[in-house]
Amino acid sequence: MRILAISGSLRATSSNGAVLETALETLDRSTWTVTYGEIGTLPHFNQDLDGEDAIPHAAVAALRSAVAEADALLFVSPEYAHGLPGTLKNAIDWLVSTGELGGKPTAVITASPHPAGGEFAYTQLRETLGMLHAELVDDACLRIPVVGTKLDRETGRVRDEATRAELTSALSALTKAAQV
Ligand SMILES: Cc1cc2nc3c(=O)[nH]c(=O)nc-3n(C[C@H](O)[C@H](O)[C@H](O)COP(=O)(O)O)c2cc1C
Repeated sequence: MRILAISGSLRATSSNGAVLETALETLDRSTWTVTYGEIGTLPHFNQDLDGEDAIPHAAVAALRSAVAEADALLFVSPEYAHGLPGTLKNAIDWLVSTGELGGKPTAVITASPHPAGGEFAYTQLRETLGMLHAELVDDACLRIPVVGTKLDRETGRVRDEATRAELTSALSALTKAAQV
Protein backbone atom coordinates (compact mmCIF):
# COMPACT_ATOMS: atom_id res chain seq x y z
CA MET A 1 0.00 0.00 0.00
CA ARG A 2 1.49 3.26 -1.09
CA ILE A 3 -0.07 6.64 -0.32
CA LEU A 4 1.09 9.73 -2.16
CA ALA A 5 0.55 12.94 -0.19
CA ILE A 6 0.53 16.34 -1.85
CA SER A 7 0.33 19.68 -0.06
CA GLY A 8 -1.03 22.77 -1.77
CA SER A 9 1.21 25.06 0.31
CA LEU A 10 4.81 25.92 -0.48
CA ARG A 11 5.42 27.55 2.91
CA ALA A 12 8.22 26.13 5.06
CA THR A 13 6.10 26.39 8.20
CA SER A 14 2.81 25.53 6.53
CA SER A 15 -0.13 24.59 8.73
CA ASN A 16 -1.32 22.29 5.96
CA GLY A 17 2.11 20.69 5.93
CA ALA A 18 1.71 20.06 9.67
CA VAL A 19 -1.70 18.49 9.05
CA LEU A 20 -0.26 16.34 6.26
CA GLU A 21 2.62 15.06 8.40
CA THR A 22 0.31 14.36 11.35
CA ALA A 23 -2.12 12.51 9.08
CA LEU A 24 0.63 10.29 7.65
CA GLU A 25 1.91 9.48 11.13
CA THR A 26 -1.45 7.90 12.00
CA LEU A 27 -0.73 5.08 9.54
CA ASP A 28 0.95 1.84 10.52
CA ARG A 29 4.24 0.71 9.06
CA SER A 30 2.66 -1.51 6.44
CA THR A 31 1.65 1.63 4.57
CA TRP A 32 4.36 3.22 2.49
CA THR A 33 3.94 6.98 2.34
CA VAL A 34 5.53 9.31 -0.15
CA THR A 35 5.25 13.07 0.16
CA TYR A 36 5.44 14.79 -3.21
CA GLY A 37 7.05 18.14 -2.49
CA GLU A 38 7.78 19.43 -5.94
CA ILE A 39 4.62 21.22 -7.03
CA GLY A 40 6.56 24.49 -6.98
CA THR A 41 9.02 23.20 -9.60
CA LEU A 42 6.43 22.29 -12.22
CA PRO A 43 6.26 24.51 -15.30
CA HIS A 44 3.06 26.43 -15.93
CA PHE A 45 0.64 24.20 -17.72
CA ASN A 46 0.75 24.74 -21.47
CA GLN A 47 -1.37 22.62 -23.75
CA ASP A 48 1.21 23.06 -26.53
CA LEU A 49 3.68 21.09 -24.37
CA ASP A 50 1.16 18.39 -23.55
CA GLY A 51 0.40 16.88 -26.96
CA GLU A 52 0.86 13.23 -27.88
CA ASP A 53 4.26 13.93 -29.46
CA ALA A 54 5.50 16.21 -26.69
CA ILE A 55 8.33 15.04 -24.45
CA PRO A 56 7.15 16.00 -20.98
CA HIS A 57 9.26 18.25 -18.76
CA ALA A 58 11.19 16.09 -16.28
CA ALA A 59 9.22 17.47 -13.33
CA VAL A 60 5.94 16.68 -15.07
CA ALA A 61 7.09 13.14 -15.87
CA ALA A 62 8.10 12.65 -12.23
CA LEU A 63 4.71 13.87 -10.99
CA ARG A 64 2.87 11.56 -13.37
CA SER A 65 4.97 8.58 -12.29
CA ALA A 66 4.46 9.33 -8.60
CA VAL A 67 0.69 9.48 -9.04
CA ALA A 68 0.62 6.38 -11.26
CA GLU A 69 2.57 4.36 -8.69
CA ALA A 70 0.32 5.35 -5.77
CA ASP A 71 -2.53 3.18 -4.50
CA ALA A 72 -4.22 6.19 -2.92
CA LEU A 73 -3.80 9.95 -2.79
CA LEU A 74 -3.99 12.49 -0.01
CA PHE A 75 -4.36 16.16 -0.89
CA VAL A 76 -3.98 18.69 1.94
CA SER A 77 -4.42 22.30 0.93
CA PRO A 78 -4.95 25.87 2.05
CA GLU A 79 -7.44 28.20 0.41
CA TYR A 80 -6.32 31.35 -1.37
CA ALA A 81 -8.82 34.05 -2.38
CA HIS A 82 -11.72 31.64 -1.98
CA GLY A 83 -10.10 29.13 -4.28
CA LEU A 84 -7.64 26.37 -4.80
CA PRO A 85 -3.96 27.45 -4.73
CA GLY A 86 -2.86 28.06 -8.31
CA THR A 87 0.23 25.90 -7.81
CA LEU A 88 -1.86 22.89 -6.91
CA LYS A 89 -4.34 23.44 -9.73
CA ASN A 90 -1.37 23.69 -12.09
CA ALA A 91 -0.08 20.31 -10.91
CA ILE A 92 -3.49 18.73 -11.41
CA ASP A 93 -3.82 20.25 -14.89
CA TRP A 94 -0.70 18.29 -15.92
CA LEU A 95 -2.55 15.07 -15.02
CA VAL A 96 -5.62 15.69 -17.16
CA SER A 97 -4.45 14.32 -20.51
CA THR A 98 -2.62 11.32 -19.07
CA GLY A 99 -5.31 10.32 -16.57
CA GLU A 100 -3.21 9.00 -13.66
CA LEU A 101 -5.84 10.10 -11.13
CA GLY A 102 -8.54 7.90 -12.62
CA GLY A 103 -9.92 5.37 -10.12
CA LYS A 104 -7.49 6.31 -7.34
CA PRO A 105 -9.00 6.44 -3.86
CA THR A 106 -8.46 10.06 -2.86
CA ALA A 107 -8.76 12.16 0.29
CA VAL A 108 -9.16 15.93 0.31
CA ILE A 109 -8.30 17.86 3.46
CA THR A 110 -8.26 21.64 3.74
CA ALA A 111 -7.04 23.58 6.75
CA SER A 112 -7.48 27.29 7.35
CA PRO A 113 -7.21 29.88 10.12
CA HIS A 114 -10.80 30.81 9.27
CA PRO A 115 -13.85 29.09 10.78
CA ALA A 116 -15.00 27.68 7.42
CA GLY A 117 -11.86 25.56 7.13
CA GLY A 118 -11.22 26.47 3.50
CA GLU A 119 -14.66 25.46 2.24
CA PHE A 120 -14.22 26.97 -1.24
CA ALA A 121 -10.88 25.26 -1.86
CA TYR A 122 -12.34 22.04 -0.44
CA THR A 123 -15.29 22.15 -2.84
CA GLN A 124 -13.19 23.16 -5.83
CA LEU A 125 -10.57 20.50 -5.22
CA ARG A 126 -13.24 17.83 -4.89
CA GLU A 127 -14.94 19.05 -8.07
CA THR A 128 -11.72 19.02 -10.11
CA LEU A 129 -10.55 15.64 -8.82
CA GLY A 130 -14.00 14.15 -9.37
CA MET A 131 -14.03 15.45 -12.93
CA LEU A 132 -10.77 13.55 -13.45
CA HIS A 133 -12.41 10.37 -12.12
CA ALA A 134 -10.46 10.20 -8.89
CA GLU A 135 -12.45 8.06 -6.44
CA LEU A 136 -13.22 10.55 -3.68
CA VAL A 137 -13.49 8.80 -0.32
CA ASP A 138 -16.04 10.90 1.58
CA ASP A 139 -15.08 9.53 4.99
CA ALA A 140 -11.48 10.51 4.28
CA CYS A 141 -12.30 14.13 3.40
CA LEU A 142 -12.14 16.81 6.03
CA ARG A 143 -12.11 20.54 6.61
CA ILE A 144 -10.10 21.82 9.55
CA PRO A 145 -11.20 25.27 10.79
CA VAL A 146 -9.11 27.66 12.90
CA VAL A 147 -6.15 25.39 12.35
CA GLY A 148 -3.64 27.69 14.07
CA THR A 149 -5.10 26.93 17.48
CA LYS A 150 -4.74 23.21 16.86
CA LEU A 151 -1.03 23.02 16.08
CA ASP A 152 2.06 22.56 18.16
CA ARG A 153 4.46 24.96 16.45
CA GLU A 154 7.53 23.36 18.03
CA THR A 155 6.84 19.85 16.75
CA GLY A 156 5.12 20.99 13.57
CA ARG A 157 2.24 18.62 14.23
CA VAL A 158 -1.45 18.81 15.14
CA ARG A 159 -1.81 18.65 18.91
CA ASP A 160 -5.60 19.05 19.24
CA GLU A 161 -6.88 15.60 20.19
CA ALA A 162 -10.24 15.86 18.41
CA THR A 163 -8.51 16.84 15.17
CA ARG A 164 -5.95 14.06 15.56
CA ALA A 165 -8.84 11.61 15.95
CA GLU A 166 -10.48 12.98 12.80
CA LEU A 167 -7.22 12.56 10.89
CA THR A 168 -6.82 8.99 12.15
CA SER A 169 -10.33 8.17 11.02
CA ALA A 170 -9.84 9.85 7.64
CA LEU A 171 -6.60 8.01 6.88
CA SER A 172 -8.13 4.74 8.00
CA ALA A 173 -11.03 5.27 5.58
CA LEU A 174 -8.57 6.06 2.79
CA THR A 175 -6.46 2.94 3.31
CA LYS A 176 -9.60 0.78 3.56
CA ALA A 177 -10.85 2.16 0.25
CA ALA A 178 -7.49 1.43 -1.35
CA GLN A 179 -7.59 -2.19 -0.17
CA VAL A 180 -10.91 -2.97 -1.87
C1 LIG B 1 -3.04 35.57 -0.73
C2 LIG B 1 -3.78 34.88 0.39
C3 LIG B 1 -5.14 34.64 0.25
C4 LIG B 1 -5.82 33.96 1.27
N1 LIG B 1 -7.14 33.69 1.10
C5 LIG B 1 -7.77 32.91 2.00
C6 LIG B 1 -9.12 32.50 1.79
O1 LIG B 1 -9.76 32.84 0.82
N2 LIG B 1 -9.67 31.67 2.70
C7 LIG B 1 -8.99 31.22 3.81
O2 LIG B 1 -9.55 30.46 4.57
N3 LIG B 1 -7.72 31.63 4.06
C8 LIG B 1 -7.10 32.46 3.18
N4 LIG B 1 -5.81 32.86 3.39
C9 LIG B 1 -5.16 32.50 4.64
C10 LIG B 1 -4.49 31.15 4.54
O3 LIG B 1 -5.47 30.15 4.82
C11 LIG B 1 -3.36 31.08 5.56
O4 LIG B 1 -2.33 31.96 5.18
C12 LIG B 1 -2.82 29.68 5.72
O5 LIG B 1 -1.97 29.65 6.83
C13 LIG B 1 -2.08 29.19 4.51
O6 LIG B 1 -1.85 27.81 4.62
P1 LIG B 1 -0.43 27.22 5.07
O7 LIG B 1 -0.23 27.60 6.51
O8 LIG B 1 -0.61 25.74 4.91
O9 LIG B 1 0.62 27.78 4.18
C14 LIG B 1 -5.13 33.56 2.42
C15 LIG B 1 -3.76 33.84 2.54
C16 LIG B 1 -3.10 34.50 1.54
C17 LIG B 1 -1.62 34.77 1.70
